[in-house]
Amino acid sequence: MTAPTHELKPVLVFDSGIGGLTVLREARVLMPERGFIYVADDAGFPYGGWEEQALKERVIGLFGRLLEEHDPEVCIIACNTAFTLVGADLRAAFPQMTFVGTVPAIKPAAERTRSGLVSVLATPGTVKRAYTRDLIQSFAQQCHVRLVGSENLARMAEAYIRGDVVSDEAVLSEIDQCFVEKEGRKTDIVVLACTHYPFMANLFRRLAPWPVDWLDPAEAIARRARTLVPQIADAVHPDNFDFAVFTSGNPDFATRRLMQGFGLSTR
Ligand code: DGL
Repeated sequence: MTAPTHELKPVLVFDSGIGGLTVLREARVLMPERGFIYVADDAGFPYGGWEEQALKERVIGLFGRLLEEHDPEVCIIACNTAFTLVGADLRAAFPQMTFVGTVPAIKPAAERTRSGLVSVLATPGTVKRAYTRDLIQSFAQQCHVRLVGSENLARMAEAYIRGDVVSDEAVLSEIDQCFVEKEGRKTDIVVLACTHYPFMANLFRRLAPWPVDWLDPAEAIARRARTLVPQIADAVHPDNFDFAVFTSGNPDFATRRLMQGFGLSTR
């Protein structure tokens, strides 16, 4: 048996925190031959409340360093809050790199809703983006779209993923605005427009005043990335390659353990 003939460049997955693991999970299934680098800008977390220009500069600056250091095949920007703001600038600043973005899944929600009432659960940043308004204008004009910007849910999701207890009341008060009744019709789709939220989907389902479809775009993002990452027949995944980078340089024990669970060593 000969050694693999191709050394493949890795896929870089970026998020403000640990929410992008929901996308990494799906991307790995579809790109088993690739190594993965997971980057969490935990020093800047949460992105939801950042002033736009400052966040733009931060993310562009970070990518200048990340691309030089890791030379990935593609970058998946798993973070809605980042990509809806800085996606176009990233592509302009680094034209040699392929960026796969994450934007609120408003188009698929508008195609699937039967009641015509759709809610988008996101960070305050994503809710106020021109990008998000444009998506509604372009794809969901026939629907009633309720934008729900949650101040606290990303932090709560981080705590929940690490094993802390979060109270039902606290979660419900963040999601209850998503449930709209209008002229005998009810919201039937809630778009999870923040990578952190799918980790809490079971909780959302249990607390929801009525059943809805919680739309998680992770798999669609991974499928899109797969189409942009060349498949090379005799390549295999480099052993023990995958790792996570935290911009704080100092993830706590619970976070390191979580990363281990996802097969990522921590740097
Ligand atoms: N994970 C980010 C997103 O998808 C948001 C979390 C944050 O506020 O940083 O929008």
